[in-house]
Amino acid sequence: MNKIWAVYFSPAGSTGRVVLRAAERLSGKLGIPVEAIDLTLPKARTEVCSFGPEDVAVVGTPTYAGRVPNKFLPELQRLLHGEGTKALGIVTFGNRSYDSSLAELLEVLEANGFEPMAGAAMVCRHVFSEMLAPGRPDEEDLAALDAWADAAAACLGAESDGKAEPAQMAEPAQVAQMAQIRPLAEARTPVAPYYTPLGTDGQPAKFLKAKPVTDLEKCDRCGVCAGVCPMGSIPAEDPASTTGICIKCQACVRLCPKKARHFEDPAFLSHVGMLEQNYTRPAAPAFFV
Ligand SMILES: Cc1cc2nc3c(=O)[nH]c(=O)nc-3n(C[C@H](O)[C@H](O)[C@H](O)COP(=O)(O)O)c2cc1C
Ligand code: SF4
Ligand code: SF4
Repeated sequence: MNKIWAVYFSPAGSTGRVVLRAAERLSGKLGIPVEAIDLTLPKARTEVCSFGPEDVAVVGTPTYAGRVPNKFLPELQRLLHGEGTKALGIVTFGNRSYDSSLAELLEVLEANGFEPMAGAAMVCRHVFSEMLAPGRPDEEDLAALDAWADAAAACLGAESDGKAEPAQMAEPAQVAQMAQIRPLAEARTPVAPYYTPLGTDGQPAKFLKAKPVTDLEKCDRCGVCAGVCPMGSIPAEDPASTTGICIKCQACVRLCPKKARHFEDPAFLSHVGMLEQNYTRPAAPAFFV
């Protein structure tokens, strides 16, 4: 093996942190370096990334409405190309469910020439609300993620040319049992049908066109929001506005140092209210090798 590639789309940062942790753990076990490819910003999504049979790709995306974010899916299909490259797919989700996102991610990777060999669905704080998965991933989640990466490393080490240090490796089956890891085939089946966001009244919440608004009394025009929008929808010369497509990722809301941006759209707020009413119980992560 040559290199471990940590590849992610992560507007608000949780997915990137999880992917990097798993990649670093693999790197420690296998003794090969890690390089990160952050596909979050438009300027990073210009060139195709090609990987060979000696590379390992750890690829991560958040779950949006139970799927790979629909504006990122075509980018994933267009940008990442493997050639028998072993791949670990990671989705993060905010305490409701990852529904079909992991199955979809693994399917795209396979169609693009990768060989998916492990999958994980990690619970991370929901970017919409402080009440949904606060403090996740916690220590227990991260220990389970490490055990999953160890199980994947054990499989890769078993297949590699012996560069990995066998003394550091438990038997793949042993590690998998410790982390309650399920067979990868189970991750290939979508766990739920297409998800329709609902409001507190139980009716579909239609907020496709919702965009954040800016409190001009708080905004000091620092431009942070323009620099973090994955859709390039906030003009640098007028960062108090949102002119292009908004995927509701919350990057600008969360990263604004003045807390000047927020959503007022009633349907969006009703959906958040529904999630807060129904999904505060701690969800479990899921691991597959
Ligand atoms: C538009 C949108 C839709 C989301 N849909 C879901 C969902 O269906 N299920 C869920 O559990 N979490 C959902 N989440 C929460 C995110 O998956 C979660 O917060 C994720 O970790 C964010 O990743 P990031 O910090 O890398 O941007 C959604 C978040 C956004 C912005
Ligand atoms: S990050 Fe906040 S304070 Fe800075 S320009 Fe954007 S809205 Fe204004
Ligand atoms: S404007 Fe929309 S897409 Fe851009 S950072 Fe803000 S929430 Fe995300």
